[in-house]
Amino acid sequence: MRESDAISGLLENKKGSVSTLYKPQFFRLNQSASRKDFIQLLDTAGVIVHDTIQEQIAELIKFRHPSVKFTPKALQDKVQEFIKNIPLEEYGVWVHYPWSNRLLHVLDEKEFIEIRTSRNQYKITPEERDELSGKKIGVIGLSVGQSVAVTLAMERICGELRLADFDLLELTNLNRIRTGLHNLGLAKVYSVAREIAEIDPFLNVICFPEGIHDENMEAFFCSGGKLDLMIEESDGFDIKILSRYKARELKIPVLMEASDRCMVDVERFDLEPERSILHGLVDHLDVATLKSLKTTEEKIPYMLDILGIDTASLRLKASMLEIEQTINTWPQLASAVTMGGGITADVARRILLNQFKGSGRYFIDVEELVGDKMPNASVLPELPVMLNTNVSEITKKLELKALPTPYILDKEKAACIVNAACLAPSGGNFQPWKWVYTSGRLLLFNAFDAQDTFLGADDLPSLIAFGAAIENLTLKASELGLQTHCTEFPKSDKEELIAIFEFSENTAIKTQLSNRISSIGLRLTNRNLGHREKIEDTILQNLQAIEKEIPGAGIRFFTEDKVLDEIAEVLGEVEKLRLLEEMGHRDFVNEIRWTAEENDEKKDGVDLRTLDITNAERVGLQVARDKGIIKLLNEWKGGGAFKKLTKKSIDSASAIGLISMPGSTKADYMNGGKILQKVWLDANASGIAFQPVSSSLFVYARLFNAQGEGISEEGKKALLGLRPRFERALDLKPGRKEIFIFRLCKAAEPKVKSLRKPLDEVLVCL
Ligand SMILES: Cc1cc2nc3c(=O)[nH]c(=O)nc-3n(C[C@H](O)[C@H](O)[C@H](O)COP(=O)(O)O)c2cc1C
Repeated sequence: MRESDAISGLLENKKGSVSTLYKPQFFRLNQSASRKDFIQLLDTAGVIVHDTIQEQIAELIKFRHPSVKFTPKALQDKVQEFIKNIPLEEYGVWVHYPWSNRLLHVLDEKEFIEIRTSRNQYKITPEERDELSGKKIGVIGLSVGQSVAVTLAMERICGELRLADFDLLELTNLNRIRTGLHNLGLAKVYSVAREIAEIDPFLNVICFPEGIHDENMEAFFCSGGKLDLMIEESDGFDIKILSRYKARELKIPVLMEASDRCMVDVERFDLEPERSILHGLVDHLDVATLKSLKTTEEKIPYMLDILGIDTASLRLKASMLEIEQTINTWPQLASAVTMGGGITADVARRILLNQFKGSGRYFIDVEELVGDKMPNASVLPELPVMLNTNVSEITKKLELKALPTPYILDKEKAACIVNAACLAPSGGNFQPWKWVYTSGRLLLFNAFDAQDTFLGADDLPSLIAFGAAIENLTLKASELGLQTHCTEFPKSDKEELIAIFEFSENTAIKTQLSNRISSIGLRLTNRNLGHREKIEDTILQNLQAIEKEIPGAGIRFFTEDKVLDEIAEVLGEVEKLRLLEEMGHRDFVNEIRWTAEENDEKKDGVDLRTLDITNAERVGLQVARDKGIIKLLNEWKGGGAFKKLTKKSIDSASAIGLISMPGSTKADYMNGGKILQKVWLDANASGIAFQPVSSSLFVYARLFNAQGEGISEEGKKALLGLRPRFERALDLKPGRKEIFIFRLCKAAEPKVKSLRKPLDEVLVCL
């Protein structure tokens, strides 16, 4: 036999099976049956006897005579006198712990409790101790719950503990659950029950190793007498809610501690039986729905409602973004779990003694209470910042009234045309335009101070938006039988004046009407993921042919899987770097309209509902709003979650389009915007979903054109390092300037459409 086989054989012989015993056995030698069993036990192999009864009696005597200083001899005499003529081994009780085969000799219950709790007095009076020893506490969930249950037992603030958890102990639990390695694989309930039995064998512990469910809920709360307090520390969302409904029905107070910022949650259903569970945070939920929630994905938004993500610690929030990126699940520390145990036990005692009656949510944030005051992080201005342009003054200076124009546009037509122009897309839906109607003409002004935005270097996104708006304007005018004559970037001492539009009547133009007009109101950004399905060649060819409509414009499509995969990687990486920058992060947070109400009120920005994201990703984004997380994620070299969203959207794209121009003048960008709008209108008209994925171009514009202002040194280095791969992935050609990147796919129509500011806010009539 090989030596290793011999070792395996020996190990196999020695392996113990995982026992589920958790109740100690008592032997009282003054009872004959018990005595017989005791003798039999002593006869079995491996029993380890530990007898300190004499010392325990001595402790009891000293406790009962606090003013007497006993000599060792006097104390020994007192012990003899105390036990009278009972043989020492028969005094008290023998307790056998089958899981460790230890046999201990201890005082019997009354004296044991008296002496084991003696150091509690008068923090807990004997009367309070006796009152508490009749209390029954249920603990659901045994991470924080383990610490709580053991502390409750040590302090002895109950006589019975019902423990529920279906989990087994794993090595990853041992960063916060105080137990030995020999317990790995054991149900958490048994591990805690044994620990308690080893501290106090007289406490009645009842285990629910399957956790709490519909069938055993009644037994957990009521069997053997109604619970006096429920401590809820479960990870299971439905159980959190359902157990509270039950507790409220039975008028049982509920206590919960979240091991983050020591959040303690108290619900006095005994005093306020009508009280909404969880302070009304989940009132909108229906129990039937709760029971049907299966995946973490489905549960997460509700979990958020319960825990209140805004009040979570910064590190927890940042960590949540790293789940499934660099960690498996959210972190929990032994210090927090230990504190949670202590704080919960303290509050539990006062609730049980009716010394504390206040329901509510309380924070004992140690870092806040004992910590250096953090200097305020740099305060970037709130976006969008509108330019303080006096459009009437600039307009007046142009003295347009004195100049001839081929056609005097009336006010109604002006409004109609501007309305169509404003339906154009704009970066972050900031609608950077201001329109002036004057002397039968229209003027377009830049109203948005993009320079201070991360992606706005050189106003590039605004110029593209103006180009798109001009395309709409021209189309709408032609529908009205008008030809547009546009003077771009007219001479003016103010750069904010972008274009002057004059019109002339042209009936022929109406007959050459393009289909694009009807697409103006239908065009939209479709962020739904869809799937990588081939787009018909003719559609792509027609879209590509649009490049001929503006001299110098170029349109290319990438459709090969391998190429798309690489573009997804690279654009995802740039997006991550953008969001890890303080300014980039601020802009992103600012651009999103986080609630329907905010969206309706502001009528700009990107409605969160238009993003095709999972519940978990939505939670992630909400968490990511806190600017403090950026510093942490940078320190941890994390942020992978930021890459994921862009990568996912390109992973589901059928094609990536790249618009380029021969140069990088303002006119090139504005023309790029016109081309963009033409492609977008036609793509949407062909039933193809269109979404810009262009932010990387604006990030590089900040790096190269604005000397990287606002980008951290690490960010600059990373972007420069990535640049060759970026150029290769998009096959950028020398002599061409990349203006815009978008993805095309086949996807469902979005349910929500972006809004626009009312016309009277963007159009001035002079
Ligand atoms: C210059 C520019 C950049 C844009 N960048 C993005 C982008 O990176 N991601 C995205 O989803 N949408 C992007 N968009 C689309 C706008 O967010 C969108 O046009 C705006 O929210 C209005 O919505 P609508 O296109 O559905 O009318 C961009 C649009 C423009 C003009």
